[in-house]
Amino acid sequence: MAENQTRTNDRFTLIDERDGKRYQRPLLHGTLGPPAIDIRNFYGEAGVLTYDPGFTSTASCKSAITFIDGEEGVLLYRGYPIQELATQSDYMEVCYLLLYGELPSPEEKAEFVNDIKRHTLIHDQLMHFFRGFTRAAHPMAIMVGVVGALSAFYHEDTDIYDPEQRMLAAYRIIAKMPTIGAYAYRYTIGRPFVYPRNDFSYAENLLYMTFSVPSEEYRPDPVLVRALDRILILHADHEQNASTSTVRLAGSSGANPFACISAGIASLWGPAHGGANEAVLKMLMEIGDKRRIPEYIARAKDKNDPFRLMGFGHRVYKNYDPRAAIMRETCYEVLEALGHEDDPLLELAMELEKVALQDEYFIERKLYPNVDFYTGIVLRAMGFPTRMFTVLFAIGRTVGWVAHWKEMISDPESKIGRPRQLYVGAPQRPFVPMEKRPAPGHRTWSRFWGGGEK
Ligand code: ACO
Repeated sequence: MAENQTRTNDRFTLIDERDGKRYQRPLLHGTLGPPAIDIRNFYGEAGVLTYDPGFTSTASCKSAITFIDGEEGVLLYRGYPIQELATQSDYMEVCYLLLYGELPSPEEKAEFVNDIKRHTLIHDQLMHFFRGFTRAAHPMAIMVGVVGALSAFYHEDTDIYDPEQRMLAAYRIIAKMPTIGAYAYRYTIGRPFVYPRNDFSYAENLLYMTFSVPSEEYRPDPVLVRALDRILILHADHEQNASTSTVRLAGSSGANPFACISAGIASLWGPAHGGANEAVLKMLMEIGDKRRIPEYIARAKDKNDPFRLMGFGHRVYKNYDPRAAIMRETCYEVLEALGHEDDPLLELAMELEKVALQDEYFIERKLYPNVDFYTGIVLRAMGFPTRMFTVLFAIGRTVGWVAHWKEMISDPESKIGRPRQLYVGAPQRPFVPMEKRPAPGHRTWSRFWGGGEK
């Protein structure tokens, strides 16, 4: 990390009002974004912890990969605006950019694309792992298992402290994710696996391995290829989101990188994160008709109802999600190319967007549609089943995960991730012998299943 990012004359003072003691801490400045108070070893000095559930005000690391300004709706990969990358670049180039920090020259790009293609096959033995799953398994469950299993194939010979081997691990995982993702789907529908083709691009191969049947020639539709490539670009990285932070935390102990990526996939799966694209589609199908929108808007606003409008709101973007604007455009392009402009689900989505954006509740809380709101509609039009949506997100995000893992391992300041806690449990107490414990009925299980003490 560049030395000049820390201005030593810039300080922030914290005052302990109990005794008036002042603690001066340096302010760290990045290239863009707000400064951060350096509270390393603050506990050792002041004897107090900082409390920040969900890390809403905590910078867990320094990173030079992605910048987000949530207020302004800005997203930059290595300094380049997402809008420019999505319209003028392609996914392979974006992968190179995220991994190496610079856009490739034509020769570098050709070599990179070729090298990735040389790693798309998965070990024949790994094929057997799929067969251990039930055909009804969710493809994300298969992804967590099979990607985790890759660690068994690349463990002894992966020295994570060797930069070349870190890069090799990155190439391997980026190349193999479409193969594993497509097989996870094919397995659940009972279709035979098809091998990747080196004459196809990354997105073409993903479509080919997912949808082709051995008895027919498969030519991917260029409009769909472009749209899928764009979806992969938009999902490639998003700084310290839940799954990326999970990969970093898992990797901070020196764990195998494929196992760390598997941990990231697990984190992505949840509906508050990558699972939202699937949840959006389910929600739209449940609403079913424009006339029922007010009922669902009312439910989203009702604090006693756990229902939330899926695809709305974002932890960081308190303005429009810039990826959503690009995806909205792509959505129309794809539906027009496929002749699905009158898709009732799209009409419903547009009406829902309009109603929510005019509603005081959503305006006040700055709840705008996020990228998942439109991605689900596009992927559905392309023929992907709902259960594959988060898998596609995982494939696109893999480069981000592995770029962050590499950055963390090579950062001399990085340490094993080990947050502290504010303990609110029972104070120390003596062990109670069995015969002296209160009779059952005194406690109820609800205490342990939520709603009880925390
Ligand atoms: N529908 C209804 N109300 C919402 C929604 C929503 N989708 N999102 C937030 N709110 C409300 C909350 O109830 C809260 O209201 P309150 O202040 O009256 O209590 C307020 O807005 C702030 O919400 P938080 O939960 O504090 O916001 P947070 O930043 O923690 O959550 C999140 C962000 C998880 C994305 C949330 O907006 C959400 O659950 N959205 C739906 C799921 C979704 O689309 N996730 C995709 C995220 S993008 C991605 O992963 C690519």
